[in-house]
Parts: sequence; structure tokens; C-alpha cells
Amino acid sequence: MYVLNTWYVAAWSTEVTRKPVRRMICEQAIVLFRTQDNETVALADRCAHRAFPLSEGRTVGDSVECGYHGFAYGPDGVCTRVPAQTTIPERARVRKYPVVEKDGWIWVWTGDPELASSTEVPDTHWMVDPEWATVTHSVHFKCRADLIHDNLLDLTHESFLHKTTVGDDYIYEHGITVEVDSNVVSVDRLMPSVAAPPLYAETMNARGLFDRFHCTEFFVPNLHVLHSGITGEARPREEGYLIKVLNGITPIDEHNSWYYYAFSRNFAVADAGATEDLRVGLATVLEEDAAALEAQEIGMQTRPRGEFDVLIAQDGGVAKARRIMAALLKSEERAAAPAAPKLAAPVTA
Ligand code: FES
Ligand SMILES: [Fe+2]
Repeated sequence: MYVLNTWYVAAWSTEVTRKPVRRMICEQAIVLFRTQDNETVALADRCAHRAFPLSEGRTVGDSVECGYHGFAYGPDGVCTRVPAQTTIPERARVRKYPVVEKDGWIWVWTGDPELASSTEVPDTHWMVDPEWATVTHSVHFKCRADLIHDNLLDLTHESFLHKTTVGDDYIYEHGITVEVDSNVVSVDRLMPSVAAPPLYAETMNARGLFDRFHCTEFFVPNLHVLHSGITGEARPREEGYLIKVLNGITPIDEHNSWYYYAFSRNFAVADAGATEDLRVGLATVLEEDAAALEAQEIGMQTRPRGEFDVLIAQDGGVAKARRIMAALLKSEERAAAPAAPKLAAPVTA
């Protein structure tokens, strides 16, 4: 059901401290905490003794101590102390998850640790680049992660769902170009000679007509980087007011997801008033998405068997991404399947 051999955003760096914190990712309970050297540790949030959540305990030195009978686990997940006796049972250990901390996010690898590679975390540097100003949100979406992926790959919904903030009819009136490079799907839409979106027009001090653009890059299965903005008519995009929206999508379970959101801009960078206006406006956009996708999730759960989505040309990116997601799931399924038993050699007389 979930692609596990990947990095998922588990938390903001600021959320992980010496006090253990719990996260549920792909139905796996994980506890995060920091060592005395500020290293982030991710362990299974289930004590080996009797399954009490370690996140209910406390850190002692570099270990996390279970709040029930005091078993302590080091950063490698191995039990280092059993208060009631001197011997430590061999099986007293919990799973350790690979972790990468980068640009304000903590990523956790949920699959085979042998396959984890820190180079596979995509570029998110805009969140911490001083040339850019960033507004962040994190929202619990009561829907499966797939619906968020579809939402970000088909931005024609902005015309209807986000009319007062980033929407306009001209969005659905323009077609898309879809490209695939390995596990990355890009959906590009250029909207020449249009007005700036209402939410940004004032911050950008943008009056008149511009070329607006959206390019969603979906790093299947966990991150969407939306490169958008406005530029002068027929001018290169790099000259314009640029926005990078980073969307870390982390499945919690079959019907719930965490949405880690960062909106970085290269204009009005030092304008605190603009940052506050955007923070409020973007919260509205996310609330509109969350409400729509929760309703859609209910629609999906009550949809009769045999009834499927009707995809249109604007869903070109959706279709490509679904194919990649299905292939990733299938290859993990295959890798996890037990090898077929060898047939016994025929007995000859
Ligand atoms: S359940 Fe953790 S020490 Fe007993
Ligand atoms: Fe939206």
C-alpha cells in the first residue's frame, strides 16, 4: 500500500528536541529525539519489553528511557539498561530508522535500511536560503496521500477551489506539458498575458499583465516542488517574481496524511507585513484543499466497486505519476515476496 524505500518528511527540525516525539508514517510508529550532540534519532516507538510507546518516556544521556519499566535504548535501538536486572536480553532492541536532516526538515527512511542513501533527498535549499523568504505550515489532511498528489499535479482546481487567493479561470483555459525523467514527473503550464494571482498581486506590487507559470515537479512518491511565479510578457521566467512551493507528503495510514508545506519567494524578502499576509492567505489555501480532499476521501470510500476516475487531458501528469507509483509498489512487493520453493528433482528408478 505504501512505497517504503524512500525518505519521508517526518518533522520540522524545530519539532525534534531532547523530548521524544511520536510520528506515525506509513502505519509505522516512530519516536524521534535528539542526542546530547544534537543528532536526530528515529526508533520504532514501541518498547521491546511490552510495547509501551517510547515517546511517552524521556531521554537520559543519548538514550530514550521507557516510561513504563525503564528499559533504555541507545541511538542504535539496542537496549542499554534494564533497571530490574543486570542482564539485558538479546531481543531487547527496537528498530532504528535512517535519518537525514536538511534545510529545516527531518526525513526518515521507512524501508530497507541497506537501500537508504542520503543523496536521494531532493533539493529544498530555498527554505533556508537568505535570498528567499519562507512561510511554512503543516497540516493533517484526512485523506489518502494519493489525493494530495493528484491535487498538486492538476492545478486547474485553483480556478474553482481557490478563487479568492490563487485562482482564476485562465488556469484551466491553458494546457499543460508533461515530462517524465526517471521517478520525477513535471507538469508545466504557461499562462501568457494574464493578471497576477490576487493573493500575491499586492505583495509583488504587480499591476497589468504578466506571463504566469506553474511547473510542478513530483518526486514520486514523497515530494512536490512547485516552481511558479510571474514574469514580464514574453520574458524569461528567471527574471520574474519567483515562488518555490515545497510540499512534503507523508502517509500516516490509509486515510490520513501529513502535509509539510513551505512557500519560498524571491520578492519582498525583508517585508514582514508581506510574510504575515502570505502566511494567513496560504493557510486559507491549505484549509480549502484540506476540506475538499477530506470530502473527496469520503467520496472515494463510498464509491461503488467498479467505478473509476474519468481522467482528461489536464490529468496527463496524474496518469504518469500513478504509473510510476504502481511500478514502485510492485517492485517492492516483488522484492518482499518469499522466493518460490525449488521443485524436488524427479525420482528415477
Ligand atoms: S514496556 Fe517498556 S520497559 Fe516495560
Ligand atoms: Fe489547492
